[in-house]
Amino acid sequence: MCRPDHYGIYYEINPWMDRNRQADRTVALRQWEVLYQLLTETLRVQVELLPSVPGLPDLCFTANAGLLVDNLFVSSRFRYREREAEVPHFTQWFLERNYRVACLPEPALFEGEGDALFCGDRLFAGYRFRSELQAHHLLAELVGMPVHSLELADPWFYHLDTCLCPLQPGRAAYYPDAFSPASQRLLKETIPELFPVTEVEARRFACNAIVVGQAVVMNADCPHLARTLAEAGYQVHEVETTEFLKAGGGPKCLALFLDREAT
Ligand code: ARG
Repeated sequence: MCRPDHYGIYYEINPWMDRNRQADRTVALRQWEVLYQLLTETLRVQVELLPSVPGLPDLCFTANAGLLVDNLFVSSRFRYREREAEVPHFTQWFLERNYRVACLPEPALFEGEGDALFCGDRLFAGYRFRSELQAHHLLAELVGMPVHSLELADPWFYHLDTCLCPLQPGRAAYYPDAFSPASQRLLKETIPELFPVTEVEARRFACNAIVVGQAVVMNADCPHLARTLAEAGYQVHEVETTEFLKAGGGPKCLALFLDREAT
């Protein structure tokens, strides 16, 4: 994770962002702090921090750093110039800790865990608004496993982690209309248990949750999904992320998995 010390809405690269609807940084810092404490103290997750950098307001969305597969960190190549300068900070962090670091051959665009999520040992990846289909093929080659490509259909759900939330092998929550019809079929074929999320809750980033074992850390105000998950035996923890929603981010965007097995 990365503390949102320099966070704010300073450019517009997705439909949520509007420079006239500025985020309150003090509130953002408090919301981030609550999430951090919940993860580290209540859920006992070991969280590593990347130092924040002035001029890089979206650096706190570490899910977009890249994707970690075993010990290989596949670094992102961002679609928008506004986020490109984050890349060296992320890669340096992984290099310093002796991870193997790779990036996809140019010009393939790939936005890391924002667009690539494991459900069990199946790797799903989204494309169209940020990552590209071509990048999925290269990613599959690089990590030596198949990638299930999902076409995103609604610009408000521009990253896969805004509309798909893997819960455990064979089970996920998702917002169906964010996917093309063919990709909705693919999801139904590959994930036997799918919990559909309503449009209202999807727009509150219900799917953008952090799953740690049986615990699900999700945005507040999504009572329907919260109830469904509680009934399915999950321990639901709600957090406020109103200030991050203004940039098109929620709890999951603020964290990158370093050790999926441990969760
Ligand atoms: N403002 C950021 C962007 O548009 C938000 C990133 C949200 N991250 C995510 N994993 N969905 O790139």
